[in-house]
Amino acid sequence: MSKNIGILIGSLRKDSFNRKVAENMREMFDKSNHCEFVDITDLQLYNEDIDQGNPPASYSSYREKLSSFDAFLFFTPEYNRSIPAVLKNALDVGSRPYGKSKWDGKPAGIISVSPGAIGAFGANHHLRQCLTFLNMHPLQQPEMYIGNVTQILDDKGKINSEESIKLFKNFVSAFEKWIDKF
Ligand code: FNR
Repeated sequence: MSKNIGILIGSLRKDSFNRKVAENMREMFDKSNHCEFVDITDLQLYNEDIDQGNPPASYSSYREKLSSFDAFLFFTPEYNRSIPAVLKNALDVGSRPYGKSKWDGKPAGIISVSPGAIGAFGANHHLRQCLTFLNMHPLQQPEMYIGNVTQILDDKGKINSEESIKLFKNFVSAFEKWIDKF
């Protein structure tokens, strides 16, 4: 079944490794599915005071965009053993107004990416905790902790080995099966 999948990346960095991995993975989806990057660059920091009656345009357009997706795929770096503030902000803005969360009931996938050795394990699980509270359904297995990411990308940002490609394709296949259940 054709699905609209929103891809959120918790890094605003031009040369983000998370974005590079996401761009590689996007190509691995079945063509019947539509994958789209959701831009969180210009989202104002969440403030309840300005989210009354007439919320900022950056909140409204973002929330409208989120409504169009059946599922979400999150790529997170790790900042100080947690998720970066930009990603938490994107979750928070999408979760309000109270009772109108855009995340509610939606299936999700989590991929954490780091140049460090432990694959942003801490960020992966902090994100999982948030998604669970938001009543999302994060895929449990396979888990994806991508450590030492510089070793799996070539100088054009492409995944450089069949072994790694197989690992990512395996995740995409499990994710596609998972989101078809909802
Ligand atoms: C980091 N980095 C980092 N890496 C990690 O594996 N665990 C960590 O706890 C942290 N902490 C951390 C804090 C802050 C404030 C910064 C700026 C960076 C390094 C991080 O993994 C690296 O900058 C990545 O390249 C970030 O991901 P993108 O932007 O390449 O997708």
